[in-house]
Amino acid sequence: MIELKSEKDIDGIRKSCKLLAELFEEVGPQIQEGMSTLDVDSLCHDFMKRHHATGPCKGYMGYPNVTCVSVNDTVIHGIPSRSIILHEGDIVSVDICLEKDGYVSDSTHTYEIGKVSEEVHQLNVVTNKCLYLGIEAASQPHARIQDIGAAVSGYARKFGYGVVRDYCGHGVGYSIHEDPEVPNYVSLANPNPRLRPGMVIAIEPMINMGTYRVRTEKDGWGVKTLDGKPACHWEHTVAITDKGLEILTQL
Ligand code: MF3
Ligand code: CO
Repeated sequence: MIELKSEKDIDGIRKSCKLLAELFEEVGPQIQEGMSTLDVDSLCHDFMKRHHATGPCKGYMGYPNVTCVSVNDTVIHGIPSRSIILHEGDIVSVDICLEKDGYVSDSTHTYEIGKVSEEVHQLNVVTNKCLYLGIEAASQPHARIQDIGAAVSGYARKFGYGVVRDYCGHGVGYSIHEDPEVPNYVSLANPNPRLRPGMVIAIEPMINMGTYRVRTEKDGWGVKTLDGKPACHWEHTVAITDKGLEILTQL
């Protein structure tokens, strides 16, 4: 069931999202070669503590950390680790849920470590563009959920990229994962509700350089591309209001 949010609740979610955007602004430039993915998680956790916020991923179905930090062929849900070190040429997606005053925000950025190959850079640029095309589709009058996946997959396909199907965007705000599901592809088998004022959703294209197919790591969390090629992930929380769409996790 899709729970529509009141103006007051959207205001609370807006504040949570703004704080998450500020976290990315502060932590993003500090991410560099030689750090471990656990170091990245620690920087984020420290920001949350200083701002009286929490990270609801920690403890969610037993997940151990406040961020997911996914390197190269890890698409999503990479568990931060002391033994995974960032090297020049890597891409690393940092996926963060933040809770402030009871309201949950969700956003992901993919960072390039030093100089990355031209093809990896293109994957990152195209995935970021997919996010904004999805947002643009959602902001059209009378837009429906699957317009987002149509825009995302339509653009990604032009580059021969694989669009992940096993994981989707989602409603967010009161908790991490709410209805509706927001797939990055189109299917007649999926629900296709109209976007309405009061809906808050996380739009999050997950795009692979090669096959769309993925597998789960032995730790039960990390999701990797089946062919070992790199993957990229960008995410914003957006609200549909009477005045139109608002990107909440962007300053
Ligand atoms: N932030 C993730 C999302 O976008 C949620 C991760 S849940 C976790 O859906 F438990 F893995 F952290
Ligand atoms: Co999400």
